[in-house]
Amino acid sequence: MELNLDKIIDIVKNELEGVKSIPAYNQLKAKYLGKKGLITEQLKRISDIPIEERSRFGKMVNKLKNDTESIFELYFNKLKTIEKEEKVLKNRVDITLPGREFPKGHLHPITLIQNEIKEIFKNLGFDIAEGPEVETDYYNFQALNIPPNHPAREMQDTFYVGDEVVLRTHTSPVQIRVMQNIKPPVKIIAPGKVYRCDMDMTHTPMFHQVEGLLVDEGINFAHLKGILKYFLQSIFYKDIGVRFRPSYFPFTEPSAEVDIECIFCKGEGCRVCSGTGWLEILGCGMVHPEVYKSVDYDYEKYTGFAFGMGVERIAMLKFGINDLRLFFGNDLRFLEQF
Ligand code: DAH
Repeated sequence: MELNLDKIIDIVKNELEGVKSIPAYNQLKAKYLGKKGLITEQLKRISDIPIEERSRFGKMVNKLKNDTESIFELYFNKLKTIEKEEKVLKNRVDITLPGREFPKGHLHPITLIQNEIKEIFKNLGFDIAEGPEVETDYYNFQALNIPPNHPAREMQDTFYVGDEVVLRTHTSPVQIRVMQNIKPPVKIIAPGKVYRCDMDMTHTPMFHQVEGLLVDEGINFAHLKGILKYFLQSIFYKDIGVRFRPSYFPFTEPSAEVDIECIFCKGEGCRVCSGTGWLEILGCGMVHPEVYKSVDYDYEKYTGFAFGMGVERIAMLKFGINDLRLFFGNDLRFLEQF
């Protein structure tokens, strides 16, 4: 019996073309070369072939088997390459897509307000001064005309670090350090952290103040009023009402507290201003002669004014925040709003 070898090979090649996966490939291979495959079956038939034709038949079927095997092998490699390419295509990275943005931080609301305050005073010709947060009793109290046992000490819940060493309770000691170092004219603000042992809706153990000091010949209370009114109208809004109330600080004489018209009710009276229409915003006064004495300034020749304000208080009013502790809770939902 004659086998048309070329025809069988063509049929195998043809069928292989349609094979696109390894399982389909294995199935087709079994069909021809498996234990019960068509070619394998031909080999089994060899004993039925008349003896004189056996050798020729055997050679023919073996050649068919070998040729078919190499065709399958070749196609297997091709399939592997196709599969690999498909995998690459499927997992392709689109390098033209924009990258994912990293979350970016920004300045803390307190820093934002502090910068705004600095900017206003810098434009008025004030320099920026700094002092240590761990301060001696002398600078924090005595040089500011607050001797030991003075009742004013009780107003400031002081953190003591040692016998004569405290965490500064206000930025006012920077006044002393500056005046010890330079002669008038002095025109500085001193922003920084201060510490008091207190904690509730409107108090935290650490908060920020900005101190101001201007000393020269001929400085009077009108200058103080002018500068502070200009500052408050710059940081809040242009025509905000400002009033000065007599007050007491050991390091100024006369002393005053400054109120602004309530920014929530525009002076009508509301919950925030307890119905008064006014909000207390800072303390100030003319520098006390006792303070000049402690820095060896001629108090007959020089006069000046000082003021101190809380940065958190201004930030709370400007941003409409009612709990001071939010500033220090590090809650991103809060911080991301600025
Ligand atoms: N140091 C005061 C405080 O922390 C604030 C203050 C009041 C500062 C009057 C001053 C001033 O410079 O003149 O309560």
